[in-house]
Amino acid sequence: MRIPENKIEEVRNAANIVDVISEYVSLRKRGKNYLGLCPFHNEKTPSFTVSSEKQIFHCFGCHAGGNVFKFLMDYKKISYVEAIQELADEFGITIEYDEKYVEIQSEQEILYDINTVAAKYFSNNLLSASEGETARKYFAERKLKQQSLRSFGLGYSYSARDSFVKYAKENKLDLDKCIHLGLIGRYDDGNYYDKFSSRIIFPIFSPNGRVVAFAGRIFDDRENWAKYLNSPESSIYHKGKILYGLSHAKDEIRRQNKAILVEGYMDLISLHQSGIKNVVAVSGTALTEDQIQLLSRYTKNVILLFDADNAGIKASMRSIELLLKQEMEVRVISLPKGEDPDSFVNNFGKEKFEELVKSAKNFLEYQTAFYESQGLLEDPMRLTEVIKELVKTLALINDELKRNLLLKSIAKKFNIRENLLEDELEKIINVTNKTAEQKNNVVNEKNAEEKRVRESKKEKVQGENLAIERDLIKLLFEGDKKILGFIASYVTPESLSDETNKEICRKALDEYFAKKDISAAALTEIFPEEEIQDYIYEITFDKYSTSRRWAERNLMDDGKSNLPKQAEDIVKNFLLIKIDERIKDNLQRLAEADNEELVKGLMKIIDELTQSKKEIANIKF
Ligand code: CTP
Ligand code: MN
Repeated sequence: MRIPENKIEEVRNAANIVDVISEYVSLRKRGKNYLGLCPFHNEKTPSFTVSSEKQIFHCFGCHAGGNVFKFLMDYKKISYVEAIQELADEFGITIEYDEKYVEIQSEQEILYDINTVAAKYFSNNLLSASEGETARKYFAERKLKQQSLRSFGLGYSYSARDSFVKYAKENKLDLDKCIHLGLIGRYDDGNYYDKFSSRIIFPIFSPNGRVVAFAGRIFDDRENWAKYLNSPESSIYHKGKILYGLSHAKDEIRRQNKAILVEGYMDLISLHQSGIKNVVAVSGTALTEDQIQLLSRYTKNVILLFDADNAGIKASMRSIELLLKQEMEVRVISLPKGEDPDSFVNNFGKEKFEELVKSAKNFLEYQTAFYESQGLLEDPMRLTEVIKELVKTLALINDELKRNLLLKSIAKKFNIRENLLEDELEKIINVTNKTAEQKNNVVNEKNAEEKRVRESKKEKVQGENLAIERDLIKLLFEGDKKILGFIASYVTPESLSDETNKEICRKALDEYFAKKDISAAALTEIFPEEEIQDYIYEITFDKYSTSRRWAERNLMDDGKSNLPKQAEDIVKNFLLIKIDERIKDNLQRLAEADNEELVKGLMKIIDELTQSKKEIANIKF
């Protein structure tokens, strides 16, 4: 069942995004756009932007963005269909649901579906099967409420080694795909078996709340069993790019503009259950750069809350450095000995936990306290090392002002002259730069020089190339059928050099060929990946500086917009750059050619390419 495409379009056209958002957010006109305080995160200066022209919104602070439906979904926490229905009601549009709609699924959709079916199966086992009793007891002992079991989709996998296999067969799931997802395995004799049998199950969600993987934990004393078994990497699960619990936590992280980072699944669920919802878990890996980047889309403020054991302290120290490198603000909470976040909140409650969060130390204090607890501050020799270590961490911070303020605090704490520390900091920064440089240098100095010249030329070409590609992408979101048609007849998505641009162009042109709605507001819906959405908003909201040229081209003498002329210029420029690249490549090959046949062939190609430049110059919109 689904709402017919043309109805969605009708509702989207009827509801003006500026009017709809104005019911919830006070907006002021600023240039072409409207500006207000973002409802999805705490801010004092407005970065929430609404385009009336394109019917989309975007917050430059927290990266929320989308069309009018997306706004209502996020603001009211309702589904896509509910958002459409709500606006349809408001504008008096009647919706008939389309019952016979059959979806053509992509490969990835099939994998997501299998995981959804599996998650439901495990969850039913836990919630209602009689064999689920032991697992239910276990969760009850760990003080998890029914509501938490449901909202995190927790489950149980039966002890029989083929129960999911049977279920998968009955439900006609693709067994090879189940193997790819790590749900089942295959013996040498060709028989299948369950991977997760006799374990409690934690589904792992993507930021958008889809099940991408599972973790299974043993829940009684079993020798020689790994405590956790995790799904392998698959085409929908990249371990280092997922933060457990993000889909549950992201709204609250935005609202509070800070995230608490814990180690385990149980930690996160217990905190959530106690009402502390701005939490994500690293779970199973050391914190990765990708995870930090993911988190930084929601907040720049991170509070580390790792276990108070040695592994936890080590993980904290390492994570501090990684986070600082990516310009995050880091604070650290230390738990009393023997506690983990899960036990702490169960033993002491929410208020005590919140006090703990308030008492979070900045990373320098944390590191200092750690060295102090090791008795390192008493011995003058060790003390020097400690101070050097602290300064080393500071050197990771790019922001000079911040670095200097922190340097002052170290000087004060250890009663050392500031300029002494400054010298030390300078030294470290210089050394870091030098090693970086050394790495780049090839032994042969001349080669290195040549390489640099070549690289810088290439970078410049790439820069030009990307600028023009971005202009092309921007054109796709002007909502003009003729322009898409024009682009489609001269540009193939594959000819774009940037992967993201390729993907966007391909999908947008597919929509055009499928004769679907190609307004910016409609196109945003076909790019569910948040990274791609962000990129699109930044382009369409003119964040990139290519737009100076854009603005110049976009105006006629009388100051009116001249999109067709602009499209013509951009497409021509794009094609010319591509041809020039090919000519250059062939000239290079010509210079290296060592037989006459090849030389002739290359000359012919170059000739033809040069000829086609003239044809490009004659292209008219
Ligand atoms: N982990 C894992 N594989 C393991 C052990 C741990 O992936 N063999 C990950 C899990 O994400 C786990 C986290 O590391 O949640 C923290 O490990 P640990 O503290 O041992 O587990 P908890 O989840 O805290 O389990 P519990 O509180 O139930 O003992
Ligand atoms: Mn634990």
